[in-house]
Amino acid sequence: MKKNVLVIGSGGREHAIVYQLSRSAQVAHIYCAPGNAGIVQLAECVAIGDTDVAQLVKFAQEHSIDLCVVGPEAALAAGVTDAFRAAGIPVFGHTKAATQIEASKEFAKQLMANYDVPTAAYRSFAIYEEALQYVQTRNSYPTVLKYDGLAAGKGVVIAQDEQEAQEALHSMLVGEAFGKGRVVIEDYLEGPEFSFMAFVHHHRVYPMPLSQDHKRAFDGDKGPNTGGMGAYTPLPFISAEEEKWALEHILQAVADGMCEEGLPLTGVLYGGLMKTKDGIRVIEFNARFGDPETEVVLPLLETDAYTVFHAIATGEELPAVEWRKQATVGVVMASCGYPGKYTKGAEITGVEDFDGLVLHMGTKVQDDKLLTNGGRVLMCIAHGDDIPRAQHKVYEQIQKIHCTNLFYRKDIAHWAL
Ligand code: AMP
Ligand code: GLY
Repeated sequence: MKKNVLVIGSGGREHAIVYQLSRSAQVAHIYCAPGNAGIVQLAECVAIGDTDVAQLVKFAQEHSIDLCVVGPEAALAAGVTDAFRAAGIPVFGHTKAATQIEASKEFAKQLMANYDVPTAAYRSFAIYEEALQYVQTRNSYPTVLKYDGLAAGKGVVIAQDEQEAQEALHSMLVGEAFGKGRVVIEDYLEGPEFSFMAFVHHHRVYPMPLSQDHKRAFDGDKGPNTGGMGAYTPLPFISAEEEKWALEHILQAVADGMCEEGLPLTGVLYGGLMKTKDGIRVIEFNARFGDPETEVVLPLLETDAYTVFHAIATGEELPAVEWRKQATVGVVMASCGYPGKYTKGAEITGVEDFDGLVLHMGTKVQDDKLLTNGGRVLMCIAHGDDIPRAQHKVYEQIQKIHCTNLFYRKDIAHWAL
């Protein structure tokens, strides 16, 4: 019997998940809640929000869903996994309690300390005066201050001096800029950052190809931070030995540690890592697929996607997860003005002429026209035998897409050249 799948989320990451599931011979029908204008070409989109837990479960029960795949952290943090489990529906994604590895910096730091996972030294504070006293005795800058909770990527301040650190502390602990919570203060590390994701079911860890995000808006890594302007895989600056070391000492150690803590993982573990001069260190963990890294990594999955997601959800046997060894470069087209103010509703043409994969991040269809409908709008993806070829192809093909209100970086994957 072919299977019905419900994917939760509405971004480029979920488009990549739906795309991969649509290639599975086991899958009969894909629903996506709420989905987007690209996803709707491959799945039936249903108008239920990604944190509307009760409605999602009800929909799944009424539509004989065999597997639910959860994309965004907000859905995990809202307890979607717990509710689906309680309803007896297999679900790919961590429980709310296990999602703390992303939702709480303090939890992640304590876990790493308990299981000898290498990361920046830290202290954590709930009381402003105590944190202030600590900051006043610190004489090494920059120093990193992190709000202990989900802050939409805005809860991290790299303070260049004591005054900046004091201001950030005041805003987080007294002003409660992100809500009531603790602040983690940690050492500043230096080196290239990269992403190491794995499928994890309890102690079993299946690594994905390494990838790298490009956070800044403009070429040469200039301009404001964004949700990610492009990504590529593989990474020439991480050796096979380093990758093996990070798999064992970081991802496997955390998977085992979470089991010890009674919070076994059943989804994606995302390590945001940094290659420092002293070795590889953890900057952060996410409890989900990275965005936009997933858009370049997941299309390389060779093992049937339904088999993988279902096995990670249920713990059934999964001998191996195979990946196509191809270089992939993905370039985000964003609305002019993003990540600041931008307008929506500009017409996009030529997407169907792109030779490769175009995933939708923020679009809508109106009167048969494809329109921009978000900050990040499309992600254009091309493969090649090596990074230069994949990069050349994506920038050649992207010329076919026309819109007066979109811009993109011209140097995605430049670290690999
Ligand atoms: P996070 O939300 O923890 O990933 O932090 C956001 C960004 O801040 C990271 O992608 C890094 O670029 C930077 N960052 C965080 N922690 C550190 C650190 N300890 N040293 C240097 N940069 C950091
Ligand atoms: N690309 C970073 C993230 O998904 O958090």
